[in-house]
Amino acid sequence: MEIKKVGVVGCGLMGHGIVQVSAEAGYEVVVAEIDQGALDKGIGKISKQLGRAVEKGKIEQADADAVLDRITGTTELADFADCDLVIEAVTENLDTKLGLWKQLDGIVKDEAYFATNTSSLPVINQAAATTRPGQFLGLHFFNPVQRMPLLEVIQSVTTSPEAMGIGLAYGEKLKKTTVETKDKAGFIVNRLLVPYLLDGIRGLEEGIGTIEEIDTAMKAGAGHPMGPLTLSDFVGLDTLHSISNVMFDEFRERRFAAPPTLRKMVAAGFFGVKSGRGFYDYSGEKPVPVNPGL
Ligand code: 3HC
Repeated sequence: MEIKKVGVVGCGLMGHGIVQVSAEAGYEVVVAEIDQGALDKGIGKISKQLGRAVEKGKIEQADADAVLDRITGTTELADFADCDLVIEAVTENLDTKLGLWKQLDGIVKDEAYFATNTSSLPVINQAAATTRPGQFLGLHFFNPVQRMPLLEVIQSVTTSPEAMGIGLAYGEKLKKTTVETKDKAGFIVNRLLVPYLLDGIRGLEEGIGTIEEIDTAMKAGAGHPMGPLTLSDFVGLDTLHSISNVMFDEFRERRFAAPPTLRKMVAAGFFGVKSGRGFYDYSGEKPVPVNPGL
């Protein structure tokens, strides 16, 4: 089966990027959000990024217009009925995802494939909530989706070789580097990255350095584009917290446990860049480190 129409549920941090790269690759895309405000915000981000690319001379205005023309926003899942591939990029909460898949399973044509962009939740639990577990896989993108080359293509115990082939072909059309992996919490990248980010926070708690010193050290000493505390803010402290809880539940190892500082910051609504405050304050022109008051 050839994928022509892609449905994306969620137009937030990850969803809007998945919509953009899919439309840029030539797919017709339908994207759903909970309400018109959230939809306008997500599609607005895509439009802004395409506008900047035109200003920089990277693409022609006509190409930017064609990308936007391929994107249809909706607040009704009924509009996903004729999609060939549906990808969810909603909140990292298993109950939310299960409820969504049960609804989509009754709406979307039987031959279509389903994929979750989960960072850590088991693919199999979601696949088993549908009547098409063989056509269900994980497609894990990285933030910012437009920029990060990797797509993890995840095989659960029920995912058919055909479904893996569909995921790999989709990734190739997006010009992503695809890596196949198994349905183990965190897959490859988060399995290694999350304990590192959590250790950055634990290091701050233990006083190995200030926020700036820890970030500067990892950039200058290990060649990372962002230090661990900047990257935690960028990923979203709420998302990092959810991932660490799932991984700790799965493996019961301290390295995956959320440090108290992370838990408290999330409780306070300090989610990082998306909320305007995390380890840094993003209200000014440049991010300013804010001691979380350990
Ligand atoms: N959205 C879209 N495009 C973005 C962007 C964003 N948030 N931030 C930067 N870009 C684009 C810019 O438009 C620019 O594009 P151009 O080359 O076509 O003009 C290009 O990226 C470079 O931008 P800048 O020069 O402003 O920025 P940098 O060179 O500093 O790079 C970065 C920015 C790519 C974000 C870099 O800092 C980086 O690689 N950071 C690490 C990101 C990372 O590790 N992501 C993975 C997180 S883990 C994850 O997502 C998994 C999940 O499950 C938690």
